[in-house]
Amino acid sequence: MKEIGIRELKENFISMISDQWALLTAGKPADYNMMTVSWGGIGELWGKDVCFVFVRPQRYTFEYMEKNEYFTLSFYGGEYKKELGICGSKSGRDTDKTALTGFEPVEIGDSVSFKQAKITVLMRKIAYQDMKPDGFIAPEIMNNYAASDFHRTYVGEIVKVLVND
Ligand SMILES: Cc1cc2nc3c(=O)[nH]c(=O)nc-3n(C[C@H](O)[C@H](O)[C@H](O)COP(=O)(O)O)c2cc1C
Repeated sequence: MKEIGIRELKENFISMISDQWALLTAGKPADYNMMTVSWGGIGELWGKDVCFVFVRPQRYTFEYMEKNEYFTLSFYGGEYKKELGICGSKSGRDTDKTALTGFEPVEIGDSVSFKQAKITVLMRKIAYQDMKPDGFIAPEIMNNYAASDFHRTYVGEIVKVLVND
């Protein structure tokens, strides 16, 4: 894996996350969990380069996001859609998603990504904020929350970007 600056990333981030999906991973190699995400953002906040991810409270990954300072977003270029489908439908609570997918964990700073990732972004968790329905202006947003399981937004400061050729 080669380290690059975030400004060197040529890929379209919306297509990367929304169309090809990503893995959100938190924890250490000995104890981590990952799940598929297709919602998220990359940008600038408080004078820092940041990513935003949105995690519903019932996810097992939520517990790992809470207890770890670092997390990664990793991207697979559409090649591992089946495996990402598994990570987006099974829970680490009762399934060994690593064994099921064959994704090979790699220690990245104080967190984890996978050997198969084409791009990994390591983040330091710097803030969270829970979504509140009284802030939703467009009524259709509530269609996403039949169970009132409002996402927790995590803001991560981008620490490192790694690419696999
Ligand atoms: C394409 C796709 C995108 C998803 N995006 C998100 C997301 O952004 N936030 C979220 O909380 N769950 C999202 N999910 C659902 C979780 O990936 C799914 O519930 C997963 O099984 C949770 O695993 P865990 O319990 O091991 O954390 C998505 C699922 C899929 C298939």
